[in-house]
Amino acid sequence: MRKVITYGTYDLLHYGHVKLLQRARALGDYLIVGLSTDEFNWNEKHKKCYFSYEERKSLLEALRYVDLVIPEQSWDQKISDVKEFRADVFVMGDDWEGKFDFLKDYCEVVYLPRTPEISTTQIKKDLGEKKNG
Ligand code: CTP
Repeated sequence: MRKVITYGTYDLLHYGHVKLLQRARALGDYLIVGLSTDEFNWNEKHKKCYFSYEERKSLLEALRYVDLVIPEQSWDQKISDVKEFRADVFVMGDDWEGKFDFLKDYCEVVYLPRTPEISTTQIKKDLGEKKNG
């Protein structure tokens, strides 16, 4: 079995996320998502999520492309996760291009093109603008 692993926040799940997960899953037979915890988002990524970790996790688990969701609690866990889960491929959107090349010692590393013109940040901004008229 070829296992694929990817990481992210996946707040306000949108079609850019789904397309990334679909393409990631197509690179193998089993997709693991390292989902950033609320603490990790707040302390390290300086992001406050709309949906809690448990809510974001249950949304991802409802997708046919996702086989397993694990918590992402630190920047440093990727090498140990790749080893522990025996991942063959590490995937991220190309906004992270080059950032995880150190994982090439352990598995294949693939950066997939992002879907243009959508992001959680943009959705939050647009909804905020609508609320404020
Ligand atoms: N992603 C993508 N296309 C988009 C948005 C996200 O392919 N339009 C990918 C990212 O590259 C990443 C994964 O989806 O591999 C999770 O991204 P995340 O940062 O959680 O989503 P964003 O919508 O980019 O959120 P934010 O605006 O808060 O950064």
